[in-house]
Amino acid sequence: MLDLLIFGGLVTLPEKQARLDIGVSEGKIVALASGLDPAAATQTLDATDRLIFPGFIDSHTHMGIPIKDTWSADDFESGSRAAAWGGITTILDFTVQAKGQSYRQALEERRGRAQGNSHIDYGIHVNVTDNNPAWQHEIGALINDGFTHFKAFTTYREAGMMIEGDDFRRVLGEIGRHGGFLMLHAEDNELIAQATAKNLAEGNLAPLYHARSRPATAEAKAIRDAAALAREVDAQLYIVHLSSQAGLEAGLEARAQGTKIYLETCPQYLLMTEGMFERPNGHWYITTPPMRTATDAEALWQALADGHINTVATDHCPFTIAQKESGGRDFSRTPNGIPGVATLFPLLYTYGVHDGRLTLQRMLELLAENPARIFGLADRKGKIAVGMDADLVLWDERETVKLHAADIPGAADWNPYEHVVVAGKVTHTLSRGRVLIANGQFVGHNVWGELVTSRQ
Ligand code: URP
Ligand code: ZN
Ligand code: ZN
Repeated sequence: MLDLLIFGGLVTLPEKQARLDIGVSEGKIVALASGLDPAAATQTLDATDRLIFPGFIDSHTHMGIPIKDTWSADDFESGSRAAAWGGITTILDFTVQAKGQSYRQALEERRGRAQGNSHIDYGIHVNVTDNNPAWQHEIGALINDGFTHFKAFTTYREAGMMIEGDDFRRVLGEIGRHGGFLMLHAEDNELIAQATAKNLAEGNLAPLYHARSRPATAEAKAIRDAAALAREVDAQLYIVHLSSQAGLEAGLEARAQGTKIYLETCPQYLLMTEGMFERPNGHWYITTPPMRTATDAEALWQALADGHINTVATDHCPFTIAQKESGGRDFSRTPNGIPGVATLFPLLYTYGVHDGRLTLQRMLELLAENPARIFGLADRKGKIAVGMDADLVLWDERETVKLHAADIPGAADWNPYEHVVVAGKVTHTLSRGRVLIANGQFVGHNVWGELVTSRQ
């Protein structure tokens, strides 16, 4: 007997679409065939006229983290609701390592926050911001335990988060030696510090000076420097939130020189430009790195289509309007980060697939197959096949949805894409066979999400 039979939908497989029924038992896909018998299932779900996708993976979120004297507004509970609304069934978040706390301690604390609070499955990348050699031995042990992805920043020195010098070499080498990889927020701190100091001294506090203080050259330089180091110590890199053509070129150059390097970009760098900062509410859009120019966005779209960029994730880090206003419209005091987890798939489908920039299969690679493979989840997640988790998204292409913050679950009371019309609707999201979204509404009851770790 099946727990659930989903019938009538057009199922998106890695290589093709096919009209197949999906049988689910104990959270797994156990049958994938046409004409499955509804009488053999406890429950059925009619997916007629829907496309069925594997649940999507957002490999870069920040639920409830401290930034500039406040905390990002979503916790795991509210953020995972927002995620499910947009067809995300796995988020990969990060530890927050306090000064004096070891990597393992920070991980245990983060696990404590997520456990029993997430509606969808979650993974945790390990931030390496306090790199006391005393906890270097933890790196290999964490990798053994399936925490294979670490994260460092080449900026945010003022917040005590920057990695540099001997620490960078030692930590990256250790991660490489044990077969893990380092996710990197790549912006050259020196270039940023100089530009920021100049703007502050001249009284240039408007949001546009956030972009002027963090130029694309800083992204490119940090990528080149880190890539050279990664080659020396034989470690793999994953560049998060690639925002610029210059950064992209640095990443591709590094790859051509033999650095093992994955590249991630985010919708904000594809769909918005620095012009957003000149709007009356431009300070709400402050996120790091800043949005760039239309030429940069075009280069990133092309790199997605060509397969040069490996993933699209969100860097979801929402702040409410009140939190954004608390910075007094001064770019240097405004908490940086924007919401995104709910709109990742609808936007990439609309502007990518619907508008002809990406094939459906490429979108699937970027949002499901590649993150599953890169983060060691491919035995459970990232595609629809017998034996995989029944993480599924039903998408109705006949509907259009005008995005409104008020309709999206989650803590954010504004949305960067307010009034944007997307070319379809997530009608249902299932996490390991459980329906979290039905007819576009959140219907989850128990927080059900579990920690996922890497099985390479
Ligand atoms: O401004 C952003 N993106 N905030 C979140 C932290 C980070 O740098 O990814
Ligand atoms: Zn970052
Ligand atoms: Zn981030």
